[in-house]
Amino acid sequence: MNVIPQIFKDKKSLPLNIFIDRALYNKKYGYYSKKNPIGAKGDFITAPLISELFGEMVAIWCIAFWEKLKKPKNINIVELGPGEGSLCLTLIKVFSRFKIFNNALKIKLLEKSKFLRKIQEKKITSKKVRWIKSIEEIKNGPTIFIANEFFDALPIKQFVLKKKIWHERFVKCINDEKLIFYYKKANLNNIKHFARLSLAKKQKFIEFPIEAIKYLTSISKIIKKHDGGMICFDYGYKKIKMSDSLQSVKKHNYSKILLNVGNSDITHHINFNLFSKIIRNLDLHLEGITEQGIFLQKMGIIHRANMLTKNANFNVKADVYYRLKRLMSRGEMGKIFKVIFFNKKGVKFNLGFK
Ligand SMILES: C[S@@+](CC[C@H](N)C(=O)[O-])C[C@H]1O[C@@H](n2cnc3c(N)ncnc32)[C@H](O)[C@@H]1O
Repeated sequence: MNVIPQIFKDKKSLPLNIFIDRALYNKKYGYYSKKNPIGAKGDFITAPLISELFGEMVAIWCIAFWEKLKKPKNINIVELGPGEGSLCLTLIKVFSRFKIFNNALKIKLLEKSKFLRKIQEKKITSKKVRWIKSIEEIKNGPTIFIANEFFDALPIKQFVLKKKIWHERFVKCINDEKLIFYYKKANLNNIKHFARLSLAKKQKFIEFPIEAIKYLTSISKIIKKHDGGMICFDYGYKKIKMSDSLQSVKKHNYSKILLNVGNSDITHHINFNLFSKIIRNLDLHLEGITEQGIFLQKMGIIHRANMLTKNANFNVKADVYYRLKRLMSRGEMGKIFKVIFFNKKGVKFNLGFK
Protein backbone atom coordinates (compact mmCIF):
# COMPACT_ATOMS: atom_id res chain seq x y z
CA MET A 1 0.00 0.00 0.00
CA ASN A 2 1.23 3.50 -0.85
CA VAL A 3 1.25 5.35 2.50
CA ILE A 4 2.96 8.49 1.18
CA PRO A 5 -0.26 10.61 1.11
CA GLN A 6 -0.97 9.71 4.77
CA ILE A 7 2.58 10.48 5.82
CA PHE A 8 2.76 13.83 4.07
CA LYS A 9 -0.90 14.79 4.77
CA ASP A 10 -1.26 18.36 3.55
CA LYS A 11 2.51 19.05 3.29
CA LYS A 12 4.65 18.99 0.14
CA SER A 13 7.88 18.53 2.04
CA LEU A 14 9.02 17.57 5.54
CA PRO A 15 12.29 18.07 7.44
CA LEU A 16 14.09 14.71 7.64
CA ASN A 17 13.30 14.16 11.35
CA ILE A 18 9.55 14.69 10.88
CA PHE A 19 9.59 12.43 7.82
CA ILE A 20 11.36 9.65 9.82
CA ASP A 21 8.98 10.08 12.74
CA ARG A 22 5.91 9.71 10.54
CA ALA A 23 7.36 6.89 8.40
CA LEU A 24 8.18 4.87 11.53
CA TYR A 25 5.56 5.92 14.04
CA ASN A 26 2.47 7.29 12.25
CA LYS A 27 -0.24 5.72 14.45
CA LYS A 28 -1.86 3.82 11.59
CA TYR A 29 0.61 3.65 8.72
CA GLY A 30 4.01 3.87 10.43
CA TYR A 31 6.45 0.97 10.18
CA TYR A 32 6.41 0.21 13.94
CA SER A 33 2.59 0.55 14.15
CA LYS A 34 1.78 -2.33 11.84
CA LYS A 35 3.98 -5.29 12.63
CA ASN A 36 6.72 -6.72 14.79
CA PRO A 37 9.85 -6.17 12.67
CA ILE A 38 12.24 -7.84 15.15
CA GLY A 39 13.34 -11.47 14.84
CA ALA A 40 14.45 -14.02 12.27
CA LYS A 41 11.12 -13.71 10.42
CA GLY A 42 11.12 -9.91 10.60
CA ASP A 43 13.45 -7.31 9.11
CA PHE A 44 16.25 -7.31 11.68
CA ILE A 45 17.38 -9.17 14.80
CA THR A 46 18.66 -7.72 18.05
CA ALA A 47 21.03 -9.00 20.74
CA PRO A 48 18.40 -10.11 23.31
CA LEU A 49 16.87 -12.41 20.69
CA ILE A 50 20.18 -13.81 19.53
CA SER A 51 21.03 -15.17 22.96
CA GLU A 52 19.44 -15.02 26.40
CA LEU A 53 22.97 -14.73 27.78
CA PHE A 54 23.01 -11.09 26.61
CA GLY A 55 20.07 -10.26 28.92
CA GLU A 56 21.63 -12.28 31.73
CA MET A 57 24.77 -10.13 31.58
CA VAL A 58 22.67 -6.93 31.59
CA ALA A 59 20.72 -8.21 34.61
CA ILE A 60 23.88 -9.04 36.58
CA TRP A 61 25.32 -5.63 35.66
CA CYS A 62 22.15 -3.93 37.04
CA ILE A 63 22.33 -5.87 40.32
CA ALA A 64 26.01 -4.99 40.71
CA PHE A 65 25.27 -1.30 40.09
CA TRP A 66 22.45 -1.43 42.66
CA GLU A 67 24.96 -2.87 45.16
CA LYS A 68 27.31 0.00 44.33
CA LEU A 69 24.45 2.41 45.07
CA LYS A 70 24.38 0.81 48.57
CA LYS A 71 21.41 -1.46 47.89
CA PRO A 72 18.57 1.11 48.05
CA LYS A 73 15.23 -0.30 49.24
CA ASN A 74 13.52 0.96 46.08
CA ILE A 75 15.07 0.75 42.64
CA ASN A 76 13.51 1.45 39.24
CA ILE A 77 14.69 -0.36 36.15
CA VAL A 78 13.41 1.52 33.10
CA GLU A 79 13.73 -0.05 29.67
CA LEU A 80 13.36 2.29 26.71
CA GLY A 81 11.89 0.79 23.54
CA PRO A 82 11.51 -2.86 24.68
CA GLY A 83 10.58 -4.10 21.19
CA GLU A 84 9.01 -7.54 21.43
CA GLY A 85 9.93 -7.85 25.11
CA SER A 86 12.69 -10.49 25.17
CA LEU A 87 15.23 -8.48 27.15
CA CYS A 88 12.67 -7.60 29.82
CA LEU A 89 11.63 -11.24 30.18
CA THR A 90 15.24 -12.32 30.73
CA LEU A 91 15.80 -9.52 33.23
CA ILE A 92 12.73 -10.59 35.23
CA LYS A 93 13.92 -14.20 35.23
CA VAL A 94 17.40 -13.34 36.53
CA PHE A 95 16.22 -10.68 39.00
CA SER A 96 13.80 -13.16 40.60
CA ARG A 97 16.81 -15.21 41.77
CA PHE A 98 18.16 -12.26 43.81
CA LYS A 99 15.62 -11.86 46.59
CA ILE A 100 16.64 -8.58 48.24
CA PHE A 101 17.15 -6.88 44.90
CA ASN A 102 13.88 -8.28 43.59
CA ASN A 103 11.96 -6.98 46.61
CA ALA A 104 13.33 -3.49 45.98
CA LEU A 105 12.55 -3.61 42.27
CA LYS A 106 10.01 -1.87 40.03
CA ILE A 107 10.29 -2.22 36.25
CA LYS A 108 8.95 0.46 33.92
CA LEU A 109 8.71 0.14 30.16
CA LEU A 110 8.47 3.06 27.74
CA GLU A 111 7.14 2.04 24.33
CA LYS A 112 5.92 4.35 21.59
CA SER A 113 4.38 1.74 19.29
CA LYS A 114 0.91 0.61 20.42
CA PHE A 115 1.34 -2.52 18.33
CA LEU A 116 4.56 -3.54 20.10
CA ARG A 117 3.17 -2.53 23.48
CA LYS A 118 0.32 -5.03 23.01
CA ILE A 119 2.86 -7.77 22.24
CA GLN A 120 4.82 -6.81 25.37
CA GLU A 121 1.66 -6.78 27.53
CA LYS A 122 0.77 -10.29 26.38
CA LYS A 123 4.25 -11.67 27.07
CA ILE A 124 5.23 -9.82 30.22
CA THR A 125 2.78 -10.61 32.98
CA SER A 126 4.92 -9.86 36.04
CA LYS A 127 3.25 -7.58 38.55
CA LYS A 128 6.54 -5.72 38.90
CA VAL A 129 6.13 -4.21 35.43
CA ARG A 130 4.27 -1.00 34.53
CA TRP A 131 4.19 0.81 31.19
CA ILE A 132 4.83 4.54 31.22
CA LYS A 133 4.12 7.13 28.54
CA SER A 134 6.92 9.52 29.35
CA ILE A 135 10.13 9.70 31.35
CA GLU A 136 8.60 12.48 33.44
CA GLU A 137 6.26 9.93 35.07
CA ILE A 138 9.24 8.71 37.12
CA LYS A 139 8.82 10.61 40.37
CA ASN A 140 11.25 8.78 42.62
CA GLY A 141 14.37 6.70 42.37
CA PRO A 142 17.15 5.66 42.15
CA THR A 143 16.67 4.62 38.53
CA ILE A 144 18.69 2.49 36.13
CA PHE A 145 17.81 3.15 32.49
CA ILE A 146 18.50 0.45 29.89
CA ALA A 147 18.31 0.92 26.13
CA ASN A 148 19.18 -1.61 23.45
CA GLU A 149 18.96 -0.26 19.90
CA PHE A 150 16.71 2.57 21.11
CA PHE A 151 18.63 5.69 20.10
CA ASP A 152 19.24 4.50 16.53
CA ALA A 153 15.47 4.27 16.09
CA LEU A 154 14.91 7.95 16.96
CA PRO A 155 14.52 10.62 14.25
CA ILE A 156 17.51 12.78 13.33
CA LYS A 157 18.12 15.97 11.37
CA GLN A 158 20.88 16.30 8.78
CA PHE A 159 22.75 19.40 7.66
CA VAL A 160 25.25 19.81 4.86
CA LEU A 161 27.67 22.62 4.05
CA LYS A 162 27.34 23.70 0.42
CA LYS A 163 29.37 26.64 -0.86
CA LYS A 164 30.02 27.73 2.76
CA ILE A 165 26.29 27.85 3.54
CA TRP A 166 24.61 25.28 5.80
CA HIS A 167 21.56 23.53 4.36
CA GLU A 168 19.05 21.21 6.05
CA ARG A 169 17.93 17.98 4.39
CA PHE A 170 14.19 17.71 3.61
CA VAL A 171 12.09 15.07 1.90
CA LYS A 172 9.85 16.29 -0.90
CA CYS A 173 6.74 14.49 -2.09
CA ILE A 174 5.91 14.55 -5.80
CA ASN A 175 2.37 13.67 -6.94
CA ASP A 176 1.72 11.64 -3.78
CA GLU A 177 3.97 8.92 -5.16
CA LYS A 178 7.61 9.78 -5.55
CA LEU A 179 9.93 11.05 -2.83
CA ILE A 180 13.19 12.93 -3.28
CA PHE A 181 15.71 14.53 -0.92
CA TYR A 182 16.32 18.25 -1.23
CA TYR A 183 18.05 20.93 0.84
CA LYS A 184 16.94 24.27 2.29
CA LYS A 185 19.19 26.96 3.70
CA ALA A 186 19.45 26.54 7.47
CA ASN A 187 20.42 28.58 10.49
CA LEU A 188 22.63 26.41 12.71
CA ASN A 189 22.19 28.75 15.67
CA ASN A 190 18.91 26.98 16.49
CA ILE A 191 20.52 23.58 16.90
CA LYS A 192 23.58 25.06 18.59
CA HIS A 193 21.30 26.65 21.17
CA PHE A 194 19.25 23.43 21.52
CA ALA A 195 22.27 21.17 21.99
CA ARG A 196 24.25 23.76 23.99
CA LEU A 197 27.16 22.74 21.75
CA SER A 198 28.94 24.13 18.78
CA LEU A 199 28.56 21.30 16.29
CA ALA A 200 29.79 22.87 13.11
CA LYS A 201 33.49 23.05 14.01
CA LYS A 202 35.53 20.97 11.55
CA GLN A 203 32.37 19.44 10.05
CA LYS A 204 30.98 19.63 6.55
CA PHE A 205 28.11 17.36 7.41
CA ILE A 206 26.09 17.08 10.62
CA GLU A 207 23.78 14.39 11.85
CA PHE A 208 21.84 15.97 14.66
CA PRO A 209 20.12 13.55 17.08
CA ILE A 210 17.33 15.93 18.05
CA GLU A 211 15.10 13.34 19.77
CA ALA A 212 18.01 11.64 21.52
CA ILE A 213 19.01 14.98 23.06
CA LYS A 214 15.46 15.46 24.37
CA TYR A 215 15.53 11.99 25.97
CA LEU A 216 19.03 12.39 27.40
CA THR A 217 17.99 15.72 28.93
CA SER A 218 14.91 14.20 30.63
CA ILE A 219 16.92 11.18 31.79
CA SER A 220 19.69 13.39 33.18
CA LYS A 221 17.17 15.25 35.35
CA ILE A 222 15.91 11.99 36.91
CA ILE A 223 19.44 10.66 37.48
CA LYS A 224 20.70 13.91 39.01
CA LYS A 225 17.66 14.22 41.27
CA HIS A 226 17.16 10.60 42.35
CA ASP A 227 20.51 8.93 41.58
CA GLY A 228 21.13 6.05 39.17
CA GLY A 229 22.52 5.82 35.66
CA MET A 230 21.99 4.62 32.15
CA ILE A 231 23.49 1.80 30.09
CA CYS A 232 22.94 1.84 26.31
CA PHE A 233 23.82 -0.64 23.60
CA ASP A 234 23.77 0.65 20.06
CA TYR A 235 25.71 0.60 16.83
CA GLY A 236 27.81 3.55 15.93
CA TYR A 237 31.24 5.14 15.73
CA LYS A 238 33.53 7.28 17.89
CA LYS A 239 35.15 9.48 15.21
CA ILE A 240 34.69 13.24 15.56
CA LYS A 241 33.98 13.70 11.86
CA MET A 242 30.35 12.96 11.13
CA SER A 243 29.15 11.10 8.09
CA ASP A 244 25.80 10.31 6.53
CA SER A 245 24.79 7.09 8.27
CA LEU A 246 21.09 7.06 7.48
CA GLN A 247 20.00 3.62 6.31
CA SER A 248 16.95 1.55 5.67
CA VAL A 249 16.61 -2.16 6.39
CA LYS A 250 14.07 -4.66 5.12
CA LYS A 251 14.20 -8.46 5.47
CA HIS A 252 17.75 -8.37 6.88
CA ASN A 253 19.05 -6.41 3.85
CA TYR A 254 19.69 -2.75 3.13
CA SER A 255 16.94 -1.04 1.19
CA LYS A 256 16.55 2.44 -0.36
CA ILE A 257 15.47 4.97 2.26
CA LEU A 258 12.77 6.59 0.15
CA LEU A 259 11.37 3.32 -1.19
CA ASN A 260 9.02 1.13 0.88
CA VAL A 261 8.19 4.02 3.19
CA GLY A 262 6.17 2.73 6.15
CA ASN A 263 7.27 -0.83 5.34
CA SER A 264 10.99 -0.73 6.03
CA ASP A 265 13.02 0.41 9.00
CA ILE A 266 14.95 3.70 8.95
CA THR A 267 17.92 3.98 11.30
CA HIS A 268 21.30 5.66 11.65
CA HIS A 269 24.62 5.05 13.38
CA ILE A 270 25.14 6.83 16.69
CA ASN A 271 28.04 9.28 16.79
CA PHE A 272 29.35 8.38 20.25
CA ASN A 273 31.75 11.28 20.28
CA LEU A 274 28.81 13.69 20.08
CA PHE A 275 26.85 11.59 22.60
CA SER A 276 29.73 11.87 25.08
CA LYS A 277 29.78 15.65 24.72
CA ILE A 278 26.03 15.87 25.24
CA ILE A 279 26.24 13.68 28.35
CA ARG A 280 29.10 15.70 29.86
CA ASN A 281 27.23 18.91 29.04
CA LEU A 282 24.30 17.58 31.04
CA ASP A 283 26.65 17.43 34.02
CA LEU A 284 26.68 13.65 34.28
CA HIS A 285 29.65 11.34 34.75
CA LEU A 286 30.44 9.36 31.60
CA GLU A 287 32.14 6.17 32.72
CA GLY A 288 33.05 5.06 29.28
CA ILE A 289 32.29 3.69 25.87
CA THR A 290 33.38 0.18 25.07
CA GLU A 291 32.69 -2.42 22.41
CA GLN A 292 29.85 -4.86 23.01
CA GLY A 293 32.19 -7.85 22.61
CA ILE A 294 34.57 -6.51 25.26
CA PHE A 295 31.75 -5.61 27.65
CA LEU A 296 30.19 -9.08 27.43
CA GLN A 297 33.54 -10.76 27.84
CA LYS A 298 34.32 -8.67 30.95
CA MET A 299 30.89 -9.51 32.34
CA GLY A 300 31.82 -13.20 32.16
CA ILE A 301 29.58 -14.35 29.32
CA ILE A 302 32.06 -17.01 28.15
CA HIS A 303 32.33 -18.46 31.64
CA ARG A 304 28.53 -18.57 31.81
CA ALA A 305 28.31 -20.31 28.40
CA ASN A 306 30.93 -22.87 29.54
CA MET A 307 28.92 -23.58 32.68
CA LEU A 308 25.65 -23.91 30.78
CA THR A 309 27.03 -26.31 28.20
CA LYS A 310 29.22 -28.41 30.48
CA ASN A 311 27.10 -31.51 30.09
CA ALA A 312 25.32 -30.55 26.89
CA ASN A 313 25.44 -32.49 23.62
CA PHE A 314 27.29 -31.23 20.56
CA ASN A 315 24.23 -29.58 18.94
CA VAL A 316 23.37 -27.54 22.02
CA LYS A 317 27.00 -26.51 22.49
CA ALA A 318 27.32 -25.50 18.83
CA ASP A 319 24.16 -23.39 19.07
CA VAL A 320 25.21 -21.58 22.26
CA TYR A 321 28.70 -20.71 20.96
CA TYR A 322 27.45 -19.79 17.48
CA ARG A 323 25.11 -17.24 19.09
CA LEU A 324 27.91 -15.98 21.33
CA LYS A 325 30.06 -15.45 18.25
CA ARG A 326 27.32 -13.33 16.65
CA LEU A 327 27.16 -11.11 19.73
CA MET A 328 30.89 -10.86 20.32
CA SER A 329 33.01 -11.28 17.23
CA ARG A 330 34.53 -8.11 15.80
CA GLY A 331 33.25 -8.99 12.33
CA GLU A 332 29.67 -9.22 13.60
CA MET A 333 28.10 -7.30 16.51
CA GLY A 334 31.13 -7.27 18.82
CA LYS A 335 32.84 -4.15 17.48
CA ILE A 336 30.24 -2.02 15.72
CA PHE A 337 27.92 -2.21 18.73
CA LYS A 338 29.11 -0.03 21.57
CA VAL A 339 28.12 0.09 25.22
CA ILE A 340 27.95 3.43 26.95
CA PHE A 341 27.36 4.05 30.64
CA PHE A 342 26.78 7.32 32.46
CA ASN A 343 25.61 8.12 35.95
CA LYS A 344 25.33 10.78 38.62
CA LYS A 345 28.66 12.33 39.43
CA GLY A 346 30.39 10.96 42.51
CA VAL A 347 29.71 7.23 42.12
CA LYS A 348 32.51 5.28 40.46
CA PHE A 349 31.27 2.09 38.86
CA ASN A 350 33.10 0.56 35.92
CA LEU A 351 32.01 -3.09 35.75
CA GLY A 352 32.28 -4.23 32.14
CA PHE A 353 34.29 -1.15 31.14
CA LYS A 354 37.70 -1.49 32.82
C1 LIG B 1 15.10 -1.14 17.05
S1 LIG B 1 13.82 -1.47 18.14
C2 LIG B 1 14.70 -2.24 19.49
C3 LIG B 1 13.83 -3.11 20.33
C4 LIG B 1 14.47 -3.81 21.53
N1 LIG B 1 15.11 -2.90 22.43
C5 LIG B 1 15.43 -4.90 21.10
O1 LIG B 1 16.63 -4.74 21.35
O2 LIG B 1 14.98 -5.88 20.53
C6 LIG B 1 13.41 0.13 18.79
C7 LIG B 1 12.33 0.14 19.84
O3 LIG B 1 12.18 1.47 20.36
C8 LIG B 1 10.80 1.85 20.31
N2 LIG B 1 10.75 3.31 20.23
C9 LIG B 1 11.21 4.09 19.25
N3 LIG B 1 11.03 5.40 19.54
C10 LIG B 1 10.50 5.44 20.77
C11 LIG B 1 10.13 6.49 21.64
N4 LIG B 1 10.27 7.76 21.31
N5 LIG B 1 9.63 6.17 22.85
C12 LIG B 1 9.50 4.86 23.22
N6 LIG B 1 9.82 3.82 22.43
C13 LIG B 1 10.31 4.11 21.23
C14 LIG B 1 10.31 1.09 19.10
O4 LIG B 1 8.92 1.04 19.01
C15 LIG B 1 10.95 -0.26 19.35
O5 LIG B 1 10.31 -0.96 20.38
